[in-house]
Order: sequence, then structure tokens, then C-alpha cells
Amino acid sequence: MRVLGIETSCDDTAAAIYDGEAGLLVHRLASQVELHRQYGGVVPELAARDHIKTLLPLLDHLINDPRNGGVKPHAVAYTAGPGLAGALLVGAAVGKSLAQAWGVPAVGVHHMEGHLVAPMLEAAAHKTPLVCPLLALLVSGGHTMLVDVENLGAYRILGQSLDDAAGEAFDKTAKLLGLGYPGGPAIAQAAQRGQPRRFVLPRPMTNRAGFEFSFSGLKTQLRNLASRQPLDQQTIADLALACEVAVVETLRIKCKRALRHTGRNRLVVAGGVGANQRLRQRLRQLGDDMGVQVFYPRAQLCTDNGAMIAYAGYLRLFGELSNAADAPRAPTAKPTQSGAFEIRPRWSLADL
Ligand code: KG4
Ligand code: ZN
Repeated sequence: MRVLGIETSCDDTAAAIYDGEAGLLVHRLASQVELHRQYGGVVPELAARDHIKTLLPLLDHLINDPRNGGVKPHAVAYTAGPGLAGALLVGAAVGKSLAQAWGVPAVGVHHMEGHLVAPMLEAAAHKTPLVCPLLALLVSGGHTMLVDVENLGAYRILGQSLDDAAGEAFDKTAKLLGLGYPGGPAIAQAAQRGQPRRFVLPRPMTNRAGFEFSFSGLKTQLRNLASRQPLDQQTIADLALACEVAVVETLRIKCKRALRHTGRNRLVVAGGVGANQRLRQRLRQLGDDMGVQVFYPRAQLCTDNGAMIAYAGYLRLFGELSNAADAPRAPTAKPTQSGAFEIRPRWSLADL
């Protein structure tokens, strides 16, 4: 079974084709970074318009790529939420329309479930299947959450961010320091030149019980520090390092707590911030200390991509998730004649 996956929830137009036997056949991505850079963040209306321009030519290339050979997919998966409403509508409209024209099923995928299964897609390709139960740390620009995964489709959110997501904290800090957009990679790069411990920022909420996060205070602390000294290149690098260390250590402390609490011996890390090398290294160390296996997708599949949506759609329609008690509610798993494009810009993983 071959599934076409379409991702347009934010500022990447991405698509991929996953084959149940051959694995990931082909994936393509068109980033809108240049479009949004001048605004220092994603402008929703511009994002939606750019998806409209980019998606069909991108799909054309994908379907006709020699690795797919023009073959019509057996199903279409698209991101139905959460995300920017206008941006989601483009992927949903195109995905459902194609499915209807081809006479194949369409399935709306939860973006965070996509992130969650990305490491499994990698593991499957390496013939070392990643099985449940496990603990998942999902860290992106819109979400930061710890999820206890008893089985695929059975998610218990242990805790999430009460305000800014980890990636959002990086993006806002980078803007403040004039490091540009997207902030995560810019902070990581600047931090390499930083002097350890010149500035130390608190690890928010680690002295309280529970698994909640709060990253919005970091930006204020950083602004205060930045206003007290000249922002030369070294100071910017030192502040970037302090920010990166604070976020990474906070995530590590909460992961350790959640691993102890759940007794899980597998940790999956996914979402854009999962591409961060310091985070990977610190969590790998934690895994070694606790006898826990730690899994990441390659950096390309940490950030938004079509492969994770194709794979999650495959699992929902034909794989392990096809019997999940509650299939995603919003979009239908059958070809629809109604032509309604249902999306859920706000959609909790727990609803699955
Ligand atoms: O998963 P993603 O591509 O999109 C969302 O679903 O939000 O994540 C994007 C976020 C951005 O906040 C970006 O700054 C952050 O991931 N990010 C990183 C790195 N690469 C991307 N953060 C830290 N280190 C990185 N290397
Ligand atoms: Zn994402």
C-alpha cells in the first residue's frame, strides 16, 4: 500500500510517499523561511498563499519522481490539525480533492502524531522496529509535551507547556538577540561560540512536582540581562548559550522525572527542537545513565515534513493504528463525496 502524505500546517510545504513494503520512497519540502524572515516569524496569511502556489507543482514532481514512477497512491493523508487554519485548509483541500479524483481514501492526520511516529519510520527502515510502550518528548515550535504511549493511538499527556513551547522560546530569544529566524538553529549556532556559565538562566518549573513546562519567562530574563550590557558578538553568543542550556536542561530534568514515574525504558524525541544537538547529546547521556534506549529521527524528519504524515496516514489506514478505538474524528477515513474540507486548528493529541 502506497500513501501520499501532505503537510501544510505551518511554514513548510511538504509531501512524501510511503510504501508499506519498500518504506519511504520519496519526500520533498519547500521551506517558506525566506518569505517570513523579514517579519521575524510566520505570517499566517502569507503562509497559506504560498502553500497554494507551491503544493501542486511539488506534488507533480513527487508523483513523477522515478522512485515512485508516476504510480497512483492507494490513499492520501494530509495534516488536519493542529496548525494555522488557512495553511491547513490548503493541504486538506488538495489532499481530499486528489483522493476523490483518484477514488482512494483520504485520512486527516494529527500533526503531533506525525512527529511521534517519525522515529518509528526511521527504526523500521533500519530493521530495528521501535515498539511501545514508550515515553515521547514532543518539542516543536507550537508544542512541548511529555506523552506516555502505552500503544500507538493510546496517548496520555503527562504534561505540556503552560505558555510558550520550547521552539517558540528559541524563536523569540533569537529575535531579541538579532539572530534571525528560525530561532532554534540560529541560537544553536551562536551558542557554539558562547562561554559556559557567564550567564545562567533558571530551569523553569523544575523545582515543582509534575511534568508541566513554562518557557515564557526565559525571554523576559534574557531581555533584562541583554539590557544591562552592550550587546557585542561575544555577549550575544554567551546569552544564546545560556538560553540553549536552560531549555535543554529543563527538558532533560522533566524527561528523567517522567521516565522514573512511568518506568518506561524507551524514550522517543521528535519535533523541530529534537534536531538540537545539545538536547540529543544530553538525553543520550540520560538514557545511558538510566538504561533507557533513546530514539530520534534524522534531523530532516524532526522538523516538519511530509514523510511523517504519509507514515501516520499509512498506520491509520492500513497499519497498527487502523484498529485504534477512536480514529481521528474530524476527517473521514473513507472517500467522501461531500467535498467538505474538515480541519482542526486546535486539536489535542489526547482526543485521539
Ligand atoms: O516541528 P517544527 O518544524 O514545526 C512545528 O510543528 O512547530 O518545529 C519548528 C521549531 C522552531 O521553533 C525552530 O526554531 C525549532 O523547531 N528548531 C530548533 C532546531 N531546528 C529547529 N530548535 C533548536 N535547535 C535546532 N537545531
Ligand atoms: Zn511540527
